[in-house]
Amino acid sequence: PNVRPLAAGNWKMNGSSEMTLSLLKGLTERLKSAGGSLAAEILVCPPFPYLAAAIALVDKDIAVGGQDCHPKASGAHTGDVAAAMLADIGCRYVILGHSERRTDHGESSAEVAAKAAAALVAKLTAIICVGETEAERDRGEALKIVEKQIVESLPPAGSASNLVIAYEPVWAIGTGRTPTSDDVAAVHGHIRKLLRTNLADGGQVRILYGGSVKPANAAELMAIPDVNGALVGGASLKAEDFWAIAEAC
Ligand code: G3H
Repeated sequence: PNVRPLAAGNWKMNGSSEMTLSLLKGLTERLKSAGGSLAAEILVCPPFPYLAAAIALVDKDIAVGGQDCHPKASGAHTGDVAAAMLADIGCRYVILGHSERRTDHGESSAEVAAKAAAALVAKLTAIICVGETEAERDRGEALKIVEKQIVESLPPAGSASNLVIAYEPVWAIGTGRTPTSDDVAAVHGHIRKLLRTNLADGGQVRILYGGSVKPANAAELMAIPDVNGALVGGASLKAEDFWAIAEAC
């Protein structure tokens, strides 16, 4: 599909005020030298305490997003952050259902769908993460698992303008291992089919690949059909590496 790719950096629980400043200065300067924009849209997702600083440092050509939000609009939920709060300070995206949240916080796909619905109400674009474990892949269940996660995690009223899917095989996250191009193509093709079935404009929803994306493998991964960008963890913490990946997107 003719969609603008997305290069998304997920800092996870990494960073500091100093790192936020130097990384975003590095990206902003490179973007200026490149003439103000790349083929791909650039998104950074720092931890909550650095979001406001990040937003103040970038101009509108670099988007900022949160790494989670609560399904409710407000209330007695100590430690949680509402989607409307993210939108209020200028976030445009929120990552939801990352495998680390599904594992560390026991998030179910139904909860992810509820969070995504809240994100859409707040006019954020929800990046919904899915992916199989190594044991599931070894059992030949990757497509089945991803299909179940997608179908159960999609919010009602989702569309290409407010939804992004990120396929992240759990065993490829932070391990330096990536699936073969054929395996990535098979999963992304299957996700595309599901999106076309479930959404009127499912052909236009961006499907990101995530899991050990590096400058050295980005071009090859991005050339795979139905790969419309990357969700980058470790390599998003260095301006030089993240920039190289964004250029490859
Ligand atoms: O959200 C990002 C992913 O979990 C990928 O992390 O690039 O460090 O493998 P990674």
